[in-house]
Amino acid sequence: MIRFIQWLHRWVSLILVIQVALWLVSGFFFSITGHHGMSGHQYMVSENSKPPLKKLATQVDFTEMYQRFPSAHLIELVSVAGVGQYQVTLADGNVLYFNANTNENWSTGEALATQLALSSYNGPGHVEAVERVMGSDEVNGWEASGFRIDIKDDLNTRIYIDEASSQVVEHRNTPWTIADWAFRLHFMDYTGGRSFNHLLIWSAGLFALWFSLSGLILLGRNITNGDFNPNRKKTWLEYFQQKGKPIASSCGGGGTCGLCKVTLQGSDIPSPKAAEKALLSANELDAGMRLSCQHRTSTNYEVKLHNEGVSDIALTLDSKRQLTPSIMELTFVSSEPVNYEAGQFMQFRIPHLNEILSRHYSVATRPHPTRFVFNVRQLPSPSEGVPPGIGSNYLCNLEPGAHVDAIGPFGDFQLTKQNNHTQVFIGGGAGIAPLRALIQSELAADSPRRCIFFYGARYEKELCYRDEFERDERLNYIPVLSEVAKSDEWAGHTGFVHETAMKWLAGKNKETLDIYVCGPPPMLEATLKSLADFGIPRERIKFDDFGI
Ligand code: FES
Repeated sequence: MIRFIQWLHRWVSLILVIQVALWLVSGFFFSITGHHGMSGHQYMVSENSKPPLKKLATQVDFTEMYQRFPSAHLIELVSVAGVGQYQVTLADGNVLYFNANTNENWSTGEALATQLALSSYNGPGHVEAVERVMGSDEVNGWEASGFRIDIKDDLNTRIYIDEASSQVVEHRNTPWTIADWAFRLHFMDYTGGRSFNHLLIWSAGLFALWFSLSGLILLGRNITNGDFNPNRKKTWLEYFQQKGKPIASSCGGGGTCGLCKVTLQGSDIPSPKAAEKALLSANELDAGMRLSCQHRTSTNYEVKLHNEGVSDIALTLDSKRQLTPSIMELTFVSSEPVNYEAGQFMQFRIPHLNEILSRHYSVATRPHPTRFVFNVRQLPSPSEGVPPGIGSNYLCNLEPGAHVDAIGPFGDFQLTKQNNHTQVFIGGGAGIAPLRALIQSELAADSPRRCIFFYGARYEKELCYRDEFERDERLNYIPVLSEVAKSDEWAGHTGFVHETAMKWLAGKNKETLDIYVCGPPPMLEATLKSLADFGIPRERIKFDDFGI
């Protein structure tokens, strides 16, 4: 539950921060532009400069209008370009317009509309275009037929004339357009209205309320946990890190990466917390496995680090090659031999500004004591001004002979032992690294088990190590492309890799399968969900996500 509250608190805060930024920017714009600058009326003649009616009123006779509309609510006479116009307001609120000279319906032609537009305009421009329109998005609430007169001037003035009445409906121009968008952002009213009373703003209010409440809940939890107490006990993760013990973590103790596993031994070990139930299997929890960032130091039980064999490793880059357009293969050597299992990963120390960042990469070959191959996906900058992936770019920019420090090996993404199960590998993208190590290791055994490898990529040119996998007849290699280009002559499987794997699994005996999954988070999530829906127990599935 707390994980959900944290997750929702984070995303709601992002939405609110964006909206607050919009309020600030639009509010600042209103302040510097002022009412006149936003009105669109910079070149509009003011009301009191219109010609007087007095002279006209003496020339007309209201008698016929009174007779035709005895129950009219109001009958008025106005001047339109020097011609009298009756405006008859009926009891239902509708207004009818008549020519006071002929008593016939008033009509507005293109020439009159243009004349009226120009008489309402006192700017330096001239008419550029006249267009018949049915209402306009620029005039909220006006949906009648009329004319739009475009004036060529420095503000791109547009004047709207109503056809039925010949009234000037509105003047619009570029400053008004900018102001209109500022109002939409400020009022969160993207329909063009300027009202605070709508669903979106109610939702924003509820979001803000949730943000405050969840903040209070999380604050209360931190206080209860003693996080603000300078004398509080450390978590086991903090303790081991302070002691210089090798322990993996990519979330800094947030309880989301699942890398900081330890095993607690004793009769009084703490119950698993929500983060542990989410990240560890029932078998692992029963065996006393916990996340070291979730429990504070205690003398009630013993703590066993999973990585007793972990050590510092000084690596030297031996060679590098571009494996696919986005994945680079880096081969490092170490002067000291390192013991590790296929599927394990190393934690690289990446110097960045004044700190050392941790990045995790799996070894992409079966174990070799002094030679380590890694597949690094080069993360480009997501947008201009945002830095590209720090760790991946640092490593990919190293040249042969460069040194880098790492610690390891870590991880329990390893082959099952002592059974005759079919080994099913499902992967995508850079998730190929540990799977390749596992496959190589299995095929190098005295009597390898049956292996099938589903590998998903977007395009054919992104199929890593394709030749190697296709060459080995002991491996059933099934590549799947999700975005086949028209130019590709691809006759293989298409779609998402987990869909192809699920079709193959249908009808198989679930008890005779060991499944290994590694890939980008969406692919991993979809595959695990499909496997769960298919009824494969979590214990039969091994997966590696580096806690991404
Ligand atoms: S450090 Fe414990 S889950 Fe990430």
